Amino acid sequence: MSEKSWDRVPIDAQSIDAPLSRAAVFLVVTVGAEPDALVTACGALAGLDDLVKTVGFRDLSARLSCIVGLGRDFWDRLRLDERPRELKTFAPIHGPVHTAPATPGDLIFHIRAEREDLCFEFERILLDKLGASITVIDEVSGFRYFDARDLLGFVDGTANPTGLDLPASALVGNEDPVFAGGSYIVVQKYLHDMASWAKVPTPMQEEIIGRTKIDNIEIDDDEAPRKSHKSLATIVDADGNEHDILRDNMPFGRPGQREFGTYFIGYSRYLWVIEKMLQRMYIGDPPGAYDRLLDFSTPHTGITFFAPARPTLEALAQAAQRQAAGP
Ligand code: HEM
Repeated sequence: MSEKSWDRVPIDAQSIDAPLSRAAVFLVVTVGAEPDALVTACGALAGLDDLVKTVGFRDLSARLSCIVGLGRDFWDRLRLDERPRELKTFAPIHGPVHTAPATPGDLIFHIRAEREDLCFEFERILLDKLGASITVIDEVSGFRYFDARDLLGFVDGTANPTGLDLPASALVGNEDPVFAGGSYIVVQKYLHDMASWAKVPTPMQEEIIGRTKIDNIEIDDDEAPRKSHKSLATIVDADGNEHDILRDNMPFGRPGQREFGTYFIGYSRYLWVIEKMLQRMYIGDPPGAYDRLLDFSTPHTGITFFAPARPTLEALAQAAQRQAAGP
């Protein structure tokens, strides 16, 4: 990393840097239009840290964590003086064949633990606290699958940044000092056409993803006629620097309903990096040569959020509560 901003940034950001877990819940809600709803929702945000302790203390080894992200429209309702520089609503992308839709969501709660029951208990109490102030838009329980594979059978998450690269890629730095330590979040809930994917021979599946299936080795496709998912999702800026994001994708499904999915969640220091990945996947590079993963995976949601660092979250939730409650 070129700047040495990290020594001064509180890396205390709602546990974004917590290790990837065995279980996760992705809960997306909208907050009611009434001022009371805003007060209740902000109260829940201010109390999030205490709730993580209340539930998480029952089994510390399960490492319960919760990250909350706020959408642009919700942020504007808080009537605060400042906003994260890049925060905006998710813009739909219309590629030549596939579209990434934009869907509603004021808040996302990304709840993670080594035990599904802790995620469940946390979500149950959280929703009790939020009460009638919110409407649940989407709720997905994900699980870690064999060798961290997605349901298409490939190991997912290998190229994630680790060590010092993780905060450098995932957390805002001194380029936006008020929001340093926070992170932009983009989510998309994908459903897979497993029957069609199963008909694709393994070498072709490997070309599409850009890694071998069994042993997860990266495939060099510089000379290939079509770029793989891995290559389309690799972002290099004008100065030749590669920009990574932190992904915590989770498989989910209901085999009885023939539902098989991947919940994509990306955390990034810069929102433009994830947006560029999506442009390259949907529009293609060169244009038209889109990501063939999309022929088998359809996004049903698309939302952008900002997860402030914990001290910022508490301060802004309290300020917004006062503001909404009136004099
Ligand atoms: C790499 C699966 C959607 C960004 C990968 C890999 C797999 C995968 C198997 C290779 C192993 C790895 O490095 O993790 C999927 C599936 C998706 C999905 C199943 C949804 C159906 C997305 C989306 C984005 C994205 C929407 C970004 C907006 C990336 C990045 C890499 C990657 C940045 C690493 C590239 C590198 O090697 O540097 N994905 N992905 N993925 N994916 Fe995805």
